[in-house]
Amino acid sequence: MLRLPGLIDPHVHLREPGATHKEDFDSGTTAALVGGFTMVMVMPNTQPPLVDSPSLALAYDAAKAKARCDYGIYLGASTDNASTAAVLAPKVSGLKMYLDQTYGPLHLDGLDAIQTHFANWPFDRPLVAHAEGKSLATVLLLAAQNARPVHICHVSRKEEIILIRKAKEKGVPVTCEVTPHHLFLTEDDLPRIGAGRGEVRPPLASTADREALWANLEVIDCFATDHAPHTLAENDGQTPPPGFPGLETALGLLLTAVHQGRLTIDELVSRMYTNPQRIFGLPKQDETMIEVDPDAAWEVHSNELHTRCGWTPFEGIQLRGRVRRVTLRGELAYEDGEIHVPPGFGVNVAPIAQ
Ligand code: NCD
Ligand code: ZN
Ligand code: ZN
Ligand code: ZN
Repeated sequence: MLRLPGLIDPHVHLREPGATHKEDFDSGTTAALVGGFTMVMVMPNTQPPLVDSPSLALAYDAAKAKARCDYGIYLGASTDNASTAAVLAPKVSGLKMYLDQTYGPLHLDGLDAIQTHFANWPFDRPLVAHAEGKSLATVLLLAAQNARPVHICHVSRKEEIILIRKAKEKGVPVTCEVTPHHLFLTEDDLPRIGAGRGEVRPPLASTADREALWANLEVIDCFATDHAPHTLAENDGQTPPPGFPGLETALGLLLTAVHQGRLTIDELVSRMYTNPQRIFGLPKQDETMIEVDPDAAWEVHSNELHTRCGWTPFEGIQLRGRVRRVTLRGELAYEDGEIHVPPGFGVNVAPIAQ
């Protein structure tokens, strides 16, 4: 049995408030524990989006009652909340800027709004961005000009990881994350997954893109699932929303890569624990660890997963390495298929917790 620290996922969507038929703090944090994550950072593109005190209160109340693992919550950047955001900063775990169109209404249009958030958001609190292609170039320039750290979400393309590599070489204070689906899937998997279920932002890319991510592993600071559940009915319907569930398959995929000699355990731990903890200034979790059977062979089946969405793009895939036991703050939280901590066990890791 392999003992690892409790993993941290800096990018998950738990859909509360507003879309608990897709996921909620209970089902989502259960999936997190089963996947070996003891801390998740929750995204603000909910209904309503988390952009002010009243909307944040909805998420905090739900999380406090239902979360089984520890969590942080991001505030969403809107066109007109830059001054409120600065005031709310100590009560949240970071500010999320959406520079490109994706799921939900949060979208920061125009250079002026982006610059205002860069200027107002406290220097020492995490600033994260969905910024693809030219948006990425914008964010990197602003990070350099303001000399302030910025974290780039779900980097997926060759030209993007190379741009980040060059920015880092020039001393720009940028960090980034890559998802397991962009490391293990490409557009060639779309026929197997199905067109509706294959919708995701950024989209599945080419083999050259995927290989560039692996070739630039040293540029990748974190692995983040971007766990983004939508139901089967939604994905198989007329207007499939983008997003993959990922909490319960991430570690198995990455341990399989370890098994294949493409990744070391140390590289995995730095990207799923040490780096996210440092980049997001997260507290240490006392008496917390996961125990993993690195040799356990298993096959992904959606009916065995705990996410409410009911499907996975990795259906039928064979993995090597599985979580056996999770201990969170001294409590046995999960063992061999069973959750042992109740809803409400999770704590908010924001500096001023609600
Ligand atoms: C995310 C979602 O569904 O909330 N979807 C996705 O395809 N990644 C939004 C996002 O992270 O961009
Ligand atoms: Zn995104
Ligand atoms: Zn996301
Ligand atoms: Zn089977």
